[in-house]
Formats: sequence, C-alpha cells, structure tokens
Amino acid sequence: MPDTIKSIAIIGATSAIAEHCARLWVKDSAVNLVLVGRNLAKTEKVAADLRVRSPQSTIRSLAGDFVDPLAIRQLVANITSEGSPDIVLIAHGSLPDQIQCQQDLSANHEALAINGVSPVLFAEAFISPMQQANHGTLAIIGSVAGDRGRKSNYVYGAAKGLVTRYAQGLQHRLAKTQVKVVLVKPGPTDTPMTAQLKQQGGKLANVEDVAQAIVKGIGQGKPVVYTPAKWALIMMAIRHLPRMLFNKLDI
Ligand SMILES: NC(=O)c1ccc[n+]([C@@H]2O[C@H](COP(=O)([O-])OP(=O)(O)OC[C@H]3O[C@@H](n4cnc5c(N)ncnc54)[C@H](OP(=O)(O)O)[C@@H]3O)[C@@H](O)[C@H]2O)c1
Repeated sequence: MPDTIKSIAIIGATSAIAEHCARLWVKDSAVNLVLVGRNLAKTEKVAADLRVRSPQSTIRSLAGDFVDPLAIRQLVANITSEGSPDIVLIAHGSLPDQIQCQQDLSANHEALAINGVSPVLFAEAFISPMQQANHGTLAIIGSVAGDRGRKSNYVYGAAKGLVTRYAQGLQHRLAKTQVKVVLVKPGPTDTPMTAQLKQQGGKLANVEDVAQAIVKGIGQGKPVVYTPAKWALIMMAIRHLPRMLFNKLDI
C-alpha cells in the first residue's frame, strides 16, 4: 500500500455525523479506515456502505468497550500497533434526559461517563503514539452545550465542558509539535440523537453540512470548529451574558 494513503480511526463510527465525515474522506481518496463502535453488526453496516463507495479503500470495523479504561487502552494499542493514524475522530455521545439525570444518579453518572470521561480517555490513549510519531490530527466532538451550563441540559453540558477543557490542555501540551488537536462544537444537528428535538419543531443543521465543516476543519488543523459557524457568535454572546440577565432566560 503506498505511503500516501491516509490512515483514519473513527471512534463512535455509527454516529451520523461521523459516518458523513467518513463518506467525505473516502470520496476524496482511498483511505485506510478503522471504524470502532459499541455494536459490531451496526459498525460493520457502516463499513459495508463505505466499501461500496470506495472499493479502493481498506475499511475494517471493530467493537469496543467505551467505558473501561484498560479496554480502551488495549483497543487503541491494537489500532496504533501498525502505526499512529493520520486522523483520529472521536465522535460518540448521547443526549441524556436532564430531568432523569437530576432524579436518577445512575443515569447522571452514565451521561457524564459516555459524553465526558469516555471520549477523553480515548483521546489520551491515542495522543501518546501520535506525539511519539510527531504527526497526525486528533479531532474530538464536544458541543456548544459545553460552553455554559444551562438548566435545560447541564449534565450533558458539563460532560462536553470536560471535553472542551481536556482538548485545550492537549492543545497546550502539543503546541510545539506537529500534532494537531481539533475541538469540534456542533450546534443542534439533524441526526438520530436529536430526533426528539426535531419532533418538537427544533431548527436543526443539516448533517452533511456539519460533516463538511468538520472534515475541512480537520484538514486545516483548526483548534476549534463551531459548526454551523454562526454558533461561534451565538455562544460568545451566551458565554459573556451577565449572570443576572442569564438567570432570567428560560434556556
Ligand atoms: N446532533 C447534534 O445536535 C449534536 C450537537 C452537538 C454535539 N453533538 C455530538 O456529536 C457527536 C455525534 O453525535 P450524532 O449527532 O452523530 O448522534 P448519533 O447519530 O445518535 O450517534 C451517537 C453515537 O454515539 C454512540 N453511543 C451512544 N451512546 C453510547 C454508549 N453508551 N456507548 C458507546 N457508544 C455510544 C452511538 O452508538 P450506537 O450507534 O451503537 O448507538 C453512535 O455511534 C456526539 O458526541 C454528540 O454529543 C451532536
């Protein structure tokens, strides 16, 4: 296989956003792709579709444990054993029910674990081989919800805030290297995760457009990608709103 073929690892590869990123990558050129999901059959379905789109690419799917630190370490060691990837995209997450998280600490714990702790453990496991190779781009999907805690979704927001701080720390750690860390902050996007919001008439971004912005941001090694881009301005306003005014908002 020629050296120029990009190697890409996607964690949470059955995510609609991640799958659309993968479609763009295989459309660009032949790639060496590893897809990781919690459910092998579902992940393999994504892989099969991508193989049809890009017969010249090498695409394999793996099932992984997303919670146990040792299993995460082992899975990443397996993926990186043949070399550190050019691109890593960490995409998994779930939108919890805020009220349920307030009433049920197990649900709260699970939401924090899968949206916060799990993605950063994957990031930490990948970043060492990438730093050693002094090469590659690691992208991690946070959310605009991580920019300021709001009563309607602060459990999810807190987990995504953890991802935000972690990505900042990694960017600082790697600032003098060739390794890039890209923090992606999507606004509400039309995917299975937001099916309920859609039913309630919420305005959602198109997943193809969001994926396009992510792939472009990764290509450029941008530190932060708000997508759609208008969310950078909206969240700047929300972050800076004085508490007295903020607390009056029903958001
Ligand atoms: N859609 C939005 O509006 C929006 C906005 C901001 C940020 N985001 C973030 O964007 C990322 C991708 O989300 P998406 O919109 O593409 O949603 P999605 O299509 O619903 O995908 C969610 C992904 O997370 C995985 N996942 C969910 N719970 C899991 C668990 N307990 N253990 C392991 N994997 C789990 C899913 O696996 P299965 O397929 O096996 O269920 C799937 O791969 C997430 O990090 C999400 O928080 C989304």
